[in-house]
Amino acid sequence: MIEEIRNTKAELDKDILNIANSEQLEEFRLKYLVKKGLIQGFTERLREVPKEQKRDVGVELNNLKKLAEQTYTEYKEKFEADSSSKLDIDLTMPGQKDGIGTYHPIQQTIDEMVTIFKSLGFAVAVGPDIEDEYHNFDAANFAPEHPARDMQDTFYINSEEKILLRTHTTPMQVRVMKSQAPPIRTIMPGRVYRNEAVSARSLAEFHQIEGLYIDKNVTMSDLKGTMVEFVRRMYGANTDFRFRPSYFPFTEPSAEMDITCFLCGGKGCRVCKYQGWLEVVGCGMVHPNMLKECGIDPDVYSGFAFGFGIERVTMLKTGIDDIRLLYENDVRILKQFT
Ligand code: DAH
Repeated sequence: MIEEIRNTKAELDKDILNIANSEQLEEFRLKYLVKKGLIQGFTERLREVPKEQKRDVGVELNNLKKLAEQTYTEYKEKFEADSSSKLDIDLTMPGQKDGIGTYHPIQQTIDEMVTIFKSLGFAVAVGPDIEDEYHNFDAANFAPEHPARDMQDTFYINSEEKILLRTHTTPMQVRVMKSQAPPIRTIMPGRVYRNEAVSARSLAEFHQIEGLYIDKNVTMSDLKGTMVEFVRRMYGANTDFRFRPSYFPFTEPSAEMDITCFLCGGKGCRVCKYQGWLEVVGCGMVHPNMLKECGIDPDVYSGFAFGFGIERVTMLKTGIDDIRLLYENDVRILKQFT
């Protein structure tokens, strides 16, 4: 019988080479591993084996059985893995796309404003968020006791050395005037910081675009013309506007410009506090003290300056009426402004 078992083993070795799919594996199982299969057949005949051969035959048969069983489980696992991976991957399906991010509405506003001002002949300059009191206040003609200098309004990084987070982009006017000779036509976008309570209308961190135009014979009507052209390009040709007198230490005279409320069209609503108008920009003629401080002769040159709050412009453009929504980075909101 030992011979028979060895022959079966040789046959089994050959059969293994032929297992290429699960049907052939099933044939293999039926031939060797079921009750009526070859191995069980030998087991039943063990009784006939003479006692002194029993051990050797037993070992041989056991090896054969182990080999058959191992082969079966190995191939079974292999075919199962193959078929499940086949189910998982459908090569005809479209690929999964990584969502491409979009520009944040604030960045979109900056880009749009920069494009408009560039087309009006303005260059772009950027400068440090961390400023000193000189550029932020002194050179911008703030009186020494001006309340904006107070710790309650300004984030000081080092109050002894008077290093602070700029409270507006106006210090960039100083940097530009000190580093360039007129004529100057520059806008200066950037982030600014104020020690303010967070609410629907204000944040401690926001953005501005500063503008500066210095040349000979620049007048208030150049300022008006520039502002009007800008709002018409930004908000549409029919946008209504008005200028109101105002006060800023670094301009004289100073003004603020309002445009018709985007939401109610001027009828009066919650967004415009029932005024029908929304303030979009502070502006004015650059104060002679500031020109002098920056090395520009006020008897020869004059100029205008302006400062937009970018969040405000973005809110007007998008209809978002709570400034905090611009900073929460909720994708459901951001996705609406692509
Ligand atoms: N710096 C002002 C602010 O932060 C904005 C401003 C007003 C800038 C008038 C100007 C200007 O250049 O002329 O509120």
